[in-house]
Amino acid sequence: MKVTKKIHKDKIVRLNKTFFLHQKYKSLIVVLALFLVFMHFFCMAVFPSSFLANKIILIVVLGLMFYIWIQELKDKRRLQLLNKNLINAQSKLERAEIDMISTLILTAEAKDPYTHGHSKRVAEYTLAIAKAMKLPVEDQKLIERAAILHDLGKIGIDDNILRKEDTLNDEEWKIMKDHPRRGVQILKPLKFLSKEKEIILHHHEKCDGSGYPDGLKKKLIPLGSQIIAVADAFDAMNTARSYRDPLTKEVITSELKEASGKYLNKDVVTTFLNLKL
Ligand SMILES: [Fe+2]
Repeated sequence: MKVTKKIHKDKIVRLNKTFFLHQKYKSLIVVLALFLVFMHFFCMAVFPSSFLANKIILIVVLGLMFYIWIQELKDKRRLQLLNKNLINAQSKLERAEIDMISTLILTAEAKDPYTHGHSKRVAEYTLAIAKAMKLPVEDQKLIERAAILHDLGKIGIDDNILRKEDTLNDEEWKIMKDHPRRGVQILKPLKFLSKEKEIILHHHEKCDGSGYPDGLKKKLIPLGSQIIAVADAFDAMNTARSYRDPLTKEVITSELKEASGKYLNKDVVTTFLNLKL
């Protein structure tokens, strides 16, 4: 991998060092070539014995055109390489930004032993479901990215609300239910995450329309959000809370089946229960 990168970098350096003809000189050469062709035929008709009527003029013109063609090919190749390099750099930058935010989430979760690693596990379950559903690889990656970021909006919510053992009051519940929007708001400057933001916004919607923030029903809920919802529900039941131990596999299976079709997407639940996790 390192060797490939070095070769690629060397090519760019070599190409940048190569002399490239500026576009205005190319145009000048083409105009000169056309002028010589015109003069050649003019002299052939009017002054057949003159120098310009000689075939040597045509050879010079062909030479000039060949030179321009070679320059065009070199320019095209250089542009392709620069473009490829630019795309690579952009995707590295995007990956670094996602990694930075993911680290922020994992650090925030690490403060609480009951949520430690939650987003990472949800992302793993989500990817496993997306693969089992045979979604296109690009969609699998997209949903996985959304899953790792799905609770980003919880950063900044008071720990007393996040870790409260009793039932949340109306005001606290309102703050808690706002976390999908807050997450999307934090990610707003990252334009390349537009699809992920849509998935994050709706990861608490329910098939019967009783979810939040928009009360969307069934197919109106992005599939990525529905996959995350199942993974999220499983992880919540499969991990300990301050007030209870993790639920048993039998209880979790029964709860997921109960919610299937009503709150959670039926196909996603079925796929998930068929996974050997
Ligand atoms: Fe959430």
